[in-house]
Amino acid sequence: MEKPIIIPFDKVPGFPLPSVIGHKGNVIFGWLGGKYCICLQGRFHPYEHNMDMALCTMPVRLMAMMGVKTLIASNAAGGVNSDLNIGDLMILKDHIFMPGLIGFSPLVGLNDPRFGNRFVSMQNAYDQKLRQKAFVLAKNFGISIKEGVYLMNAGPHYETTAEVSLAAKLGADAVGMSTCHEVMVARQLGLRCFAFSLITNCSSLDLDNPLDISHSDVLEIGRKISEKASEWIAQLIDNLDND
Ligand code: HPA
Repeated sequence: MEKPIIIPFDKVPGFPLPSVIGHKGNVIFGWLGGKYCICLQGRFHPYEHNMDMALCTMPVRLMAMMGVKTLIASNAAGGVNSDLNIGDLMILKDHIFMPGLIGFSPLVGLNDPRFGNRFVSMQNAYDQKLRQKAFVLAKNFGISIKEGVYLMNAGPHYETTAEVSLAAKLGADAVGMSTCHEVMVARQLGLRCFAFSLITNCSSLDLDNPLDISHSDVLEIGRKISEKASEWIAQLIDNLDND
């Protein structure tokens, strides 16, 4: 970002500290792709905060209150679809929000109309125009890009082989532990949403051939791809309509 103003999470009233290694915990204001942006270096996963969805989505509501119109979210995910390889980027076409389906939706509880309507459509949650733009840009950029459905589990454990099979049967291409709660709140606020996963590991569907996953592997793959992904997203921001 150009002319960045970096504010650590612990200087922002009400912000909890991120506990996940690799999440730096800064809010950064600055110019990116010709637009004034806010970047969060870190996010709040429900498993870190006793499934407190209002707390975990608060930064999205705060950014919307500050005038943000588009949310771009990234995550690390395990590939379920065998077409996905480690190091691929996957644009989210849609999601399956497992905690949300069983009552851990950030919209549960009394509705505060400042944040939007009681009942929220989640159709076209991931803006089609943005997805198409991002796909073309990524191809031109030589990025190994795919599209798919992301399934959010609560974590913090990785899935068993049988759970990965379940995710595949439900129509998921990749599994992770974030993003859906943030996108849901963003849609309630009327923000345009775009999200992509970095495939950091491939999950096994074969009970007799399990594949182990470690957080350090996830971080390592993330480091390798981050520069290219950042340039891609800067180009996407550059190409955003000003409406
Ligand atoms: N499962 C859930 N979350 C993840 C994974 C995974 O396989 N990889 C990175 N985040």
